[in-house]
Amino acid sequence: MNAPNVDPNVPHPARVYDYWLGGKDNYAADRAVAEAVMAATPGVVTGARENRAFLGRAVRWLCEQGVDQFLDLGSGIPASGSTHEVAQGLNPAARVAYVDNDPVVLVHARALLRGAPEGRTTYIEADLRRPRTILDSPEVRATLDFSRPIAVIIVGTLTHLRDEDDPWAAVRACTDATVPGSYLALTHLTADFELADGFPTGPLQVTHRTGEQVLRFFDGFQVVEPGLVWASDWKHLGALPTGSVRGAYGVVGRKI
Ligand SMILES: C[S@@+](CC[C@H](N)C(=O)[O-])C[C@H]1O[C@@H](n2cnc3c(N)ncnc32)[C@H](O)[C@@H]1O
Repeated sequence: MNAPNVDPNVPHPARVYDYWLGGKDNYAADRAVAEAVMAATPGVVTGARENRAFLGRAVRWLCEQGVDQFLDLGSGIPASGSTHEVAQGLNPAARVAYVDNDPVVLVHARALLRGAPEGRTTYIEADLRRPRTILDSPEVRATLDFSRPIAVIIVGTLTHLRDEDDPWAAVRACTDATVPGSYLALTHLTADFELADGFPTGPLQVTHRTGEQVLRFFDGFQVVEPGLVWASDWKHLGALPTGSVRGAYGVVGRKI
């Protein structure tokens, strides 16, 4: 795996997460961080997989609502069950624009871009903290029609933005670019359920947010059932997984 602008000695959340999902697109520095977090918080691997499962359930549900365009912010390294796989599996004409700030993700973009021929899938390297670089991107504009509803998917990403980054303004800039009837779906680490100080993430810098802070991302949205819940519980059918940390909210809302 050789990518320009990648320092293999600097761990990156996309590759740490890839390790937890059982992927091979990570370096020793990423694995060291991943193992340190696993030692401190044994439920983290299950939590990562549940985060991914929320993504699948949310995208499936959005397709059922008739949504056929997705802006996935913080896509991660392609793994099974990616947004375009789920969406184009249900609607081959679905369009997906992926964004991530890890240059390694670009290395895998070819594999990622192999979407359904009727649909369209694109990937850009950009930072959510600079939303204009996303919204003004010619690739994104060529893929998504902003005059029709778009689902903005931000699963597991906002936790990596600090309060000083003003993640609320960044999300707002993206959702302001969409029409009413669009959706916002996100997961966010929280200490509300367990562990008052948040669960230990070792050297991985993350921000836990309260339910009230998470709901602020949904100003101007109607939160859909079942509301603000543990991500694993969001429209989950069957038995819930055991051995995980109740560590993330999952929420979906419809733009009013
Ligand atoms: C926990 S992973 C989630 C990946 C995927 N959304 C999923 O649910 O499987 C978080 C992703 O957010 C990306 N990320 C973190 N900060 C970001 C930023 N400021 N701009 C864009 N992407 C970011 C990371 O590179 C990583 O791929």
